Amino acid sequence: MARKPFIAGNWKMHNTVEQSLALVNALKNAVNKNNADICVAPSFTSLHPVAQALKNTSIILAAQDCHYEDKGAFTSAVSPVQVKDIATHVIIGHSERRSLFGDNNEVLNLKLRAALKHNLTVIFCIGETLSERETGKTFEVLQTQIYKGLKNFIAPELKDLIIAYEPVWAIGTGKTATPEMAQQTHKDVRAILAQKFGPDFAGAVRILYGGSVKADNVDAIMAQPDVDGVLVGGQSLEADKFIRIIDYN
Ligand code: PGA
Repeated sequence: MARKPFIAGNWKMHNTVEQSLALVNALKNAVNKNNADICVAPSFTSLHPVAQALKNTSIILAAQDCHYEDKGAFTSAVSPVQVKDIATHVIIGHSERRSLFGDNNEVLNLKLRAALKHNLTVIFCIGETLSERETGKTFEVLQTQIYKGLKNFIAPELKDLIIAYEPVWAIGTGKTATPEMAQQTHKDVRAILAQKFGPDFAGAVRILYGGSVKADNVDAIMAQPDVDGVLVGGQSLEADKFIRIIDYN
């Protein structure tokens, strides 16, 4: 079965409610000629108003993270139950969460378990640093992130999983993996998933590329057979730029 393209915008810590609404209202006019799933991930403060604005549209709403407990004394955290109240998807394991907030593979495993238990679709991010790539450790790093992040899962529990491969050295830097490099790494990720969960699972799971995706590289990246979509940061903050990415050729 063909994998449906998935184009997601991760707004990170940007946009007031007013700015979020202006952006999402502009995105409603996007022509979705590729029949892709379109997804936006605003900050928690904008999640509810954006959900209201997206009613009766097909644009998918994601949170940028969630806690692994359903509720409790975790000041500032947001639980998967609370996310599920408003959104259908959640990003887990973004490299900024890993490097700036201490989300290690064990914590991410708990978050994945909690989010999937509440029927959230998870966009699970993995990726190597520049030094890991330069020292030839990319495969090993991705394998560890997948094996530890998805520890104790069986394939049927992961039907709502999307993987985002985001090389850390390409995030927000303007440096992009070449389309060939993205393809090779996506193929490797699919092989790791096949090893752990079987070929049927690996063949069906969508793998997104992220890291400095923009208008002038999206077409070549999306043309790669193992790239099923993109996770876009900077270029998702301006409607015309993100609409061009959605409209990739
Ligand atoms: P970028 O961010 O497109 O600004 O590189 C991608 C991401 O962090 O998801």
